[in-house]
Amino acid sequence: METGLRSTQTRETRRRIILFPLPFQGHINPMLQLANILHTQGFKITIIHTEYNAPTHSNYPHFTFSSISDRFHEIEHQLPTIPSPDPGHFLNYLNRSCVDPFTDCLTGLLAESNNKGSIACLITDAGFYFTQAVADTLKLPRMVLRTGSLSCTTAYGVLPIFSKSKNSCFNLTTEDLDYEATVPEFPLLKVKDVMKMTINPKSYGYFLTNMLKEMKSSSGIIWNTFKELEEPSLKTICQEFPCPSFTIGPLNKYFSSSSSSLIEQDKTILSWLDTQAPKSVIYVSFGSAAQITKSEFQEVAHGLMNIGLPFLWVVRPRVVRGSEWLESLPERFQKEVGDRGHIVKWCPQQDVLAHPATGCFWTHNGWNSTLESICEGVPMVCSPCFTDQPINARYVSDVWKIGVLLEDGFERKGIQMALRRVMMDKEGEEMRERIRCLKEKVNLSLKKGGSSHQSLKRLVDYISLL
Ligand code: UDX
Repeated sequence: METGLRSTQTRETRRRIILFPLPFQGHINPMLQLANILHTQGFKITIIHTEYNAPTHSNYPHFTFSSISDRFHEIEHQLPTIPSPDPGHFLNYLNRSCVDPFTDCLTGLLAESNNKGSIACLITDAGFYFTQAVADTLKLPRMVLRTGSLSCTTAYGVLPIFSKSKNSCFNLTTEDLDYEATVPEFPLLKVKDVMKMTINPKSYGYFLTNMLKEMKSSSGIIWNTFKELEEPSLKTICQEFPCPSFTIGPLNKYFSSSSSSLIEQDKTILSWLDTQAPKSVIYVSFGSAAQITKSEFQEVAHGLMNIGLPFLWVVRPRVVRGSEWLESLPERFQKEVGDRGHIVKWCPQQDVLAHPATGCFWTHNGWNSTLESICEGVPMVCSPCFTDQPINARYVSDVWKIGVLLEDGFERKGIQMALRRVMMDKEGEEMRERIRCLKEKVNLSLKKGGSSHQSLKRLVDYISLL
């Protein structure tokens, strides 16, 4: 994409930026997009990455890479065996296991750089909270990329389940909790939304507390969002975080995430979409990390059978707990659906969302998927699974009003009704119109003089002076 920005650095004076992504698809994509953007602005790029989920080097011949050992293989087998998500466990583990190899790697890179100041800064995922202490010791400025939304970050700061407030409703036993009650500290959310984020508030709370603390100590925060979408939350963050914030997103509008995909994308599906009527297809995907149970999977299948509309369904291998792929599909599924529905393991999501045939996105509301849907003006049906997804889903359904939230989880009647509301009802048309307006705002924000364009210019100037 033409950003209108020109580098002021010459080949001889170009400074290097070192980036360090968290090794998960939803974090690798925006970090590599940011790396590409900064490269177009004249910076040299080094990516430090873990062995686990390493990016494909040959897709980025213009970057240099350094791999570190993360010992993730020691706990990787726990990923599919945990009955419900405990993301804090894995994230805290990585923040411990990477300390020594990362410190050695960064020390080596600093020693190799021949002139002082040739490395401008380190940019890490905000979730790698341990890196602030390393950067301080090595006297290297550290900025962070926060891959989630501004609104979610403000919510994390006040949610009593994580901040251990004494009077919190979450101190009740699970049987006594009123799941439909609103959370006083963040009234947009219901108790059930917060309960969904993790089964282990202790480990996730520890992770979030450290992440927020070290974000505040950083030299600046880069956000994958645009000002017009989250202005009230941006104000809160600017008041509460002493370091500068740069809202330069959506990052996927500059560079596609295809080159950082960890799973091969099935591109053949685009020619099937070409044969479908405009806005007629339901696109279904629950992202790169969430898992569902066998009975939830079957409810999804029945919902899609019963709605009678064309669909493209991404069933990632092992997305169904205890299954390799499609073993749990109802027997009559294929026969009933015929050529009306297609199932793939992974697809070029941005191309699918941008395709004229796509009419709605049934999503888990990972932040990248949510933003990608907004960028293409596709209204959503929301099935958030964990971490930030329940918060993103509330914004989509209750604040921006560009989607319908499946309040009762995966249940075939509710699924059918929600899909109908978005695809066939007047209400769906109104959502489509609202998200079309947001899409226009995205495009304006990236044009010369727009908010994200200006923010990127400010970021480049800021890094150049670090
Ligand atoms: C994880 C967390 O679950 C999420 O809540 C957090 O915001 C980021 O990390 P993930 O499941 O990876 O999210 O979802 P998301 O953030 O939406 O990212 C998925 C990425 O994979 C998107 O960029 C999407 O375009 C891509 N994708 C998805 C594909 O390329 N092909 C597919 O078939 C599905």
